[in-house]
Formats: sequence, C-alpha cells, structure tokens
Amino acid sequence: VSLRALNTFGIEASAHAYLPVDDLQQLRTLCEDAGLMALPRLVLGGGSNLLLTQDFSGLVLHMQNRGITLSGEDDNFIYVRAAAGENWHSFVQWTLQQGLGGLENLSLIPGSVGAAPIQNIGAYGIEIKDRFHSLQAFDLISGELLTLDREACRFGYRDSIFKHALRDRAVVLEVTFALPKRWEANANYADVAQALQERGITEPGPRDIAEAVIAIRTRKLPDPARIGNAGSFFKNPIVPARLRDTLLAQYSNLVSYRVDDAHYKLAAGWLIDRCGWKGKTMGRAGVYEQQALVLVNRGGATGAEVARLAKAIQDDVKEKFGVQLEPEPVFI
Ligand code: EPU
Repeated sequence: VSLRALNTFGIEASAHAYLPVDDLQQLRTLCEDAGLMALPRLVLGGGSNLLLTQDFSGLVLHMQNRGITLSGEDDNFIYVRAAAGENWHSFVQWTLQQGLGGLENLSLIPGSVGAAPIQNIGAYGIEIKDRFHSLQAFDLISGELLTLDREACRFGYRDSIFKHALRDRAVVLEVTFALPKRWEANANYADVAQALQERGITEPGPRDIAEAVIAIRTRKLPDPARIGNAGSFFKNPIVPARLRDTLLAQYSNLVSYRVDDAHYKLAAGWLIDRCGWKGKTMGRAGVYEQQALVLVNRGGATGAEVARLAKAIQDDVKEKFGVQLEPEPVFI
C-alpha cells in the first residue's frame, strides 16, 4: 500500500499492511491475529508529524472513526468529545460555530484529533494540555480500554506518554476537551497581538483570534496540500541559562524565552536562519522561504533526502551555536 497520500510531506513509501480503523471491534479482532500482531506497528492520524525514510515493513493502522458530541458541563467547563479520526481544524471550527471558545489559538494545525495529544500540539500561547480533560485509548498489548486523564498523559513540550511507554501500543479512540465557560482571550503572543491590532480589534472574541491565527499561519507556514511539509521540523531547544547568556552576549538579537531560573528556550528558526539556511535547497528537499524551522518537499523528495538536509542543518547549528537540535516529527 502506498503511503504517499497519507503523509503531509508527500513522501512516496509503502507499507507492508494497512488497516483502516473505524471502530473498536476492528482493534479487538486485530489483537487475536497473531500474524498481524507480530508486525511492527504505526498508528496513523493525519500523517502530519511523520518522516518516512524508507518503506515500512509493518502494519499501518489508520484511524478513521468520526463523531463530535457535547458530553456534559459543570460550573466551569463545557465538555466536548471528538473521535480520533476527526480532522483537527474542522473540529476546532465546529467548537467555534457552537459558540465555544478555548481552542481558537490552535486553528489550522494539520492532523487529526487523535494525533493531537500524542505530541501535545501547541501554538500561539496554548497547548492541547491546557484544554484537555481525558481520552480513551485501546491497549493493543493487554486488549483493554484505557481512560487517561491529563496527569496520566504526562504532557510535556511536544511530548506525552504516547511517545514513550505507550508508543505503538495505545491507539487513541476519542478525546474529551474541557472548554472554559469563563473564556478569556489569549492574545499575548506577539504575532497574534499584532494581527489583531492591524485589524483594529481591541476586545477580540474567540473567532477574531481564530481568524488572526489562520492569517498568520497562512502567511508563515506552507499549506501541505500544495507543498509537502510536517510543520516545525525541529523543537525549540531548551538550554542552560549560562549558554543562553553567552550566546546573547555574541548575538544581541537572539530570540529566547525563559523556562525557569536555570533554563531558556531558544527559537530554533532563528538559529537556522542565522546559519543561512532559509530558502535553501539540497536535493529535492528544502528550507521554507518564510520560516526556517519548516523543511519542505520541493517535489519528489525521498525521506532520506529530507533526513540528509536535517542532518546538515543540525551539524551547522551545533558548530555555530553549540546547540543540538532535535527533530519534532517521528522518523520511520
Ligand atoms: N525566526 C527567525 N527566522 C525564521 C523563523 C523564526 O528569525 O526563519 C524567529 C522569529 O522572528 C521569532 C522566533 O524565531 O522571533 C519564533 O518564531 P515563530 O513565532 O514563527 O515560532 P516558532 O518558535 O518558530 C513555534 C512552534 C510552532 C507554532 C509557533 C507559534 C515549535 C517547534 N514550533 O514556532 O508550531 O505554530 O511557535 O506558537 O515549538 C509545529 O510544531 O509544527 C509548529 C508549527
């Protein structure tokens, strides 16, 4: 089975076996199939955080279940439950159409609802963990249904338990979000504040923020339907405060954010940009013109070509700044 249409990088690679999943029963049946269970597994949502570096000699599980429901409320929150196979952006737009705020900063992020908690997607001052209530997953090893609350998911920066102990083992079926009844705008992120100001909006509602975020993302990030990519290719590195101070003394316009007394997060895009990589091409892979943190498929690139470009960038940033960049997408 070709995976080309199933990864936003648009990379050609095949999978040995492919199973579209739209309900729990299919997963229970799979558990009883010793032959399929012996294969390596890849659980696929929107395929937007993935780099296929070669053909996959295993089983791809493609989540396709659908459904969004208002599942309850209490004094503080409205709870909304969405199936893993729902498209993330469509889901966010649905909540906004219902008059529910809380997810607007996460508009236009590619991928599916089920994939969102895996890497704790985040943008413009909000991470999914801030709006997360719980999720239901199926454990392919024990054959049990799991319910995980926020703490159990061990969310970190672009990280969760699904990248560690539960990797390729738990299949997320549905996610429940807690949307605040007393909504407050989160418009402190410089780009968002500026976009609202340009529109003359001083007291933004959820839809105003969604529109601002959509405009920013459209300007800075390539549309995967036109140019293959997986969003930010590297995480923003967290470094000791001492290293940040040394770098700041050398580069007065270094972009950094305080994490705690001893650590700062650096803007990886800035580091890569300063190494001169923005807009560059290597083989059929390249660095996006508007945002150096995004690697793109210039047409027909292989995963290995993208990985080679990534390595060259990592080596350069390491040499110039002494900082090791870590890829954000999962390499297969
Ligand atoms: N910068 C440059 N040159 C570049 C790119 C960025 O100098 O080519 C500078 C910018 O001027 C800015 C700073 O770096 O001062 C940060 O850039 P930006 O605000 O565009 O955000 P980012 O740190 O590059 C992160 C997330 C994005 C998310 C945005 C907005 C990561 C790895 N990336 O990018 O998430 O949309 O913030 O919150 O944390 C993703 O994960 O796929 C993703 C797109």
